[in-house]
Amino acid sequence: MDKIEQEISRRRTFAIISHPDAGKTTLTEKFLLYGGAINLAGSVKGKATARHAVSDWMEIEKERGISVTSSVLQFEYDGYCINILDTPGHQDFSEDTYRTLMAADSAVMVIDGGKGVEAQTRKLFKVCVMRKIPIFTFINKMDRDANDTFDLLDEIEKELGIATCPVNWPIGSGKEFKGVYERATRTIHSFSDTEKGTKEGKDSVTSLDDEAAVMDQIGSDAYDKLQEEIELLDGASAEFDLAKIQAGELTPVFFGSALTNFGVEVFLQHFLKMTQTPLARISDQGSVDPATRDFSAFVFKIQANMNKAHRDRVAFMRICSGKYDASMEVRHVQGGKVMRLSQPQQIMADSRKILDEAYAGDIIGVFDPGIFSIGDTLCMPKEEFRYAGIPTFAPEHFARVRQMDTMKRKQFVKGITQIAQEGAIQIFKELDTGLEEIIVGVVGVLQFDVLKYRLENEYNVDIKLEPLPYEHIRWIENENPDLGRLVGTSDMKKVTDLKERPLLLFVNPWSVQMVLDRNEGLVLSEFGRS
Ligand code: G4P
Repeated sequence: MDKIEQEISRRRTFAIISHPDAGKTTLTEKFLLYGGAINLAGSVKGKATARHAVSDWMEIEKERGISVTSSVLQFEYDGYCINILDTPGHQDFSEDTYRTLMAADSAVMVIDGGKGVEAQTRKLFKVCVMRKIPIFTFINKMDRDANDTFDLLDEIEKELGIATCPVNWPIGSGKEFKGVYERATRTIHSFSDTEKGTKEGKDSVTSLDDEAAVMDQIGSDAYDKLQEEIELLDGASAEFDLAKIQAGELTPVFFGSALTNFGVEVFLQHFLKMTQTPLARISDQGSVDPATRDFSAFVFKIQANMNKAHRDRVAFMRICSGKYDASMEVRHVQGGKVMRLSQPQQIMADSRKILDEAYAGDIIGVFDPGIFSIGDTLCMPKEEFRYAGIPTFAPEHFARVRQMDTMKRKQFVKGITQIAQEGAIQIFKELDTGLEEIIVGVVGVLQFDVLKYRLENEYNVDIKLEPLPYEHIRWIENENPDLGRLVGTSDMKKVTDLKERPLLLFVNPWSVQMVLDRNEGLVLSEFGRS
């Protein structure tokens, strides 16, 4: 293996998804601690300030306690080079999560054992299943009272339509949490939260066959219950099958407590063994092998004003093949230009490190003077291929944007266009009315708040949003459609999107079919392709 292949083979790139408050940040921090990347011991319990400094950067996130944007962290553990992609924890930002998942090879799903699959995040998890990427489940907060374990697994299977395979099994929960039983090795890892001053449980391992020792550790009631559950479990649960896990059809489930550090390292070790090296990606010229092909990457996220001091715009790209070094020239396929990437960086939340080199599986952030779009491909100058685009989600809520101070028109247009280019919202212009008004469309209503907040804070522009009744959107796929002759319905509005493509908004779902019936040859699509 040459150096490049070696570097690529030790990389693991995954996204971490969860409902807000399930423990995503705490778990990520513990991973980083094991990797020695940061020294947060002490500050983890020291609450919000320390935590937010690691992975959140927007004020609104702090205020609401949700993560709106996603960040990237890299650390080393046991010879592996690990890239964690953080995702917004709220379903209103599931489009962002979807894009981030496009850049990951697997996902870790964190669930609060006392809450199970929460209604608010169903959509978020479904997005994961839709992408068919391997999902690893960590059921957290076992040191608090948790739901019945079989019910938790049932819920995941029902809600997400994916089979589960517990790798370990909790022995009690809350005050009665004794540890976990590891199925493959038939051992008990017991939990004790008695270490004064550290808050971190100690992990000791006993074979299940050593009945006396087990009884001694967990007590006879817990022992009997465990025996019963193991029997049930062995009869009922899906067999461990690595091929199915890697195909995204089966999720291995782990139990633990991120806060007290119980089960985190075991999870990390199993996870790293089960996940794959950076996967091949599909382009319009077939599959691109990460290790044997030269550098290529695609843009999955654009973020402006991440740091007020910088006031810049960064395009995040996932390197899909080969090695990148800062001195080389690359082709930006969609822009039709050969160029040097400007200030390639590894972005670690607030801090940035200028990169000299990076490999397939890594994420780099590049200063973007406004040339990149989500889904764009970069490759070597001698090549020209495109990775499959990232579809935009159909917005489900629309509002007309009223700008309060007409003197600031330029600022307003700049701000709203930039935020739309990032994919944080979608904007549309009305056809036929001659009005310069902008309609904004979002997947989740919290995106409206983010828009308003960002326009005020980053562009100094006040707006008012007037809700519109449209809920259904269709792009017109016909080439050069004659919109003047289109026979519509009374609840329909004709608009164009950021790329000047024509589309229709409807209040009622049945109007879509009526318009299709009235206009022969009209082709409508639910997705706007990037
Ligand atoms: P998120 O990123 O998924 O939103 O969750 P985060 O890690 O911020 O955790 C949310 C809250 O849950 C935090 O409490 C955190 O300490 C707590 N937590 C995380 N993992 C565990 C666990 O395994 N057991 C228990 N009991 N709690 C856990 P907080 O009250 O918001 O902050 P703090 O005062 O505890 O720092």
